[in-house]
Parts: sequence; C-alpha cells; structure tokens
Amino acid sequence: MEKVVFVTGSNKGIGFGIIKHLGLSGWRVVLGARDKGRAEAAIQKLKDLRIDVAGWVKIELADLNSVETAAAEINAKYGDLSLLVNNAGIPGDMSVASFDSELKDVKETIDVNYIGTFAITKALTPLLIKNKGRIVNVTVPSEANPYWHPMAYVASKAAQNAMVGVMAMEFEQKDLPVEIFTVHPGPTTTDLNGNMDLPGFHNIETIGEKMAELINDGKKHNGEFIELYPIVKED
Ligand SMILES: NC(=O)c1ccc[n+]([C@@H]2O[C@H](COP(=O)([O-])OP(=O)(O)OC[C@H]3O[C@@H](n4cnc5c(N)ncnc54)[C@H](OP(=O)(O)O)[C@@H]3O)[C@@H](O)[C@H]2O)c1
Repeated sequence: MEKVVFVTGSNKGIGFGIIKHLGLSGWRVVLGARDKGRAEAAIQKLKDLRIDVAGWVKIELADLNSVETAAAEINAKYGDLSLLVNNAGIPGDMSVASFDSELKDVKETIDVNYIGTFAITKALTPLLIKNKGRIVNVTVPSEANPYWHPMAYVASKAAQNAMVGVMAMEFEQKDLPVEIFTVHPGPTTTDLNGNMDLPGFHNIETIGEKMAELINDGKKHNGEFIELYPIVKED
C-alpha cells in the first residue's frame, strides 16, 4: 500500500515544512488548503523537488460543511490515506489579556483549532483505522506560563490536547489499529507570529525535517506529547 498523507494548512508555514519533508522521504502528499492559488503555488514548489503530489483538498476548518466535503473527497479519492497531520491553526488575538478578549475571537480560535480539527479527525478516523494509520497534531502545551499565555490560543490547544489524550486512550481500550499523538514544534518563525525571529526560534525547514524524522521513526507514539526540542531544566 502507498504511504499517503494529508496535512491541513500545508500551503505555507510549518505545514509546508512538514509536507515537503514527508514528500522528500517518500510519502505521497495531499495538501489541505483554503485557497486554490495558495495551494497551487505550494504544489509547484513541491513538484519542483520531484515530490509525489497527489493533489489538494479545500478545507476551511471554521466551516463544518467544508470539513465534511473535504472528508468525503479524501475518502473518495485517497482511499490509501494512512496519515493525517492536523497542522492548520490560528493564533487568535494574542495582544489582549484574557479578561479583555473579544468573545468572537475566542470562539473563532476554538472553532478552528479545536472543533474543526476534531471534525476532520472524526470524519477520517474510519479510513485511518482501515489503513492502520496515524494522526499527528501540531500544538503547544496547555498550561499557562508567566511568560506566554494568550488565552484564546492556549484554551483552544488545551482542548485539542485533551482530544488527543482521550482518543489515544479509547483507541487502546477498543484495540483499534490506529494511533494519535501530539507534537510541540517549539517557537518557529512563521506568519502566525508575524515572522518573529528571536533567539531560540526555528525555521520551517528544520521543523519539517525533524517532524518527518519523528513520523518515519517506526515507533509507536500513541497518546504521547512530544517536545520536538525538549526544554532543558537547569539545576
Ligand atoms: N509558529 C509557531 O511558533 C508555532 C509553535 C507551536 C505550534 N504551532 C502550531 O503550528 C501550526 C501551524 O502554524 P504556523 O506557525 O505554520 O502558522 P501559519 O504560517 O500562519 O500557517 C497556518 C496554516 O493554517 C491554515 N489555516 C489558517 N486558518 C485556517 C482555517 N480556518 N481553516 C483551514 N486552514 C487554516 C493557513 O491557511 P491560509 O494560508 O489560507 O491562511 C496556513 O496554511 C498551528 O497549529 C500552530 O498553532 C506554531
């Protein structure tokens, strides 16, 4: 069976880095994107690298009808899918304190990062079980810390992280041949943070390469929360 992967939000940023390096390591890739022009520009870059691009699927995570249509298209066209990477996400308004947040912004962030992500995961789980596949979520730790705590974003990722923990446990309890795990890439220079490039930030090439290495490592990771760059605690 061919190794086919679908990566949400893979027209740019970390998702593009992941799909590029999975493609370079032999995966057949299907891009998830919201916009035809942005999808086609990314596909051209991948094809220039001789990556096997199966196509792209339009998916807007804030719209459950779009998620349903995307899942139906994937089921119909890419029956060999064995890996879903839930990468697409939005930051929400990171400039405000929790108590000054606009409810509209909190809701939108949770709709995209959690509800939409759960919806595509749920819709593709039967196919992934059939193909003994895997689901990988790109996220951040759920705990508030004194240095960085944008509430809408952290709350949406906390829900996503809980989803991974619960689904992983249930997959095991029901002995289903599928796994789900979480990866925190660490700070990465992308549009999501205004292309911030402070010391300790990584670029999408490094992250894409490390993510592909992890995904291809042949180990079981069900339920794990993996720090791509483990935080070193000094005594
Ligand atoms: N950058 C970091 O430091 C960092 C650290 C830890 C975790 N992460 C996580 O990594 C993931 C990727 O982030 P990034 O930094 O690469 O951000 P990015 O460069 O802004 O890329 C985000 C991707 O998600 C897509 N997207 C946004 N809203 C969407 C929606 N409503 N429906 C479907 N797709 C949507 C974007 O598509 P468009 O091009 O159409 O907008 C784009 O392809 C996110 O889940 C983020 O939380 C990032």
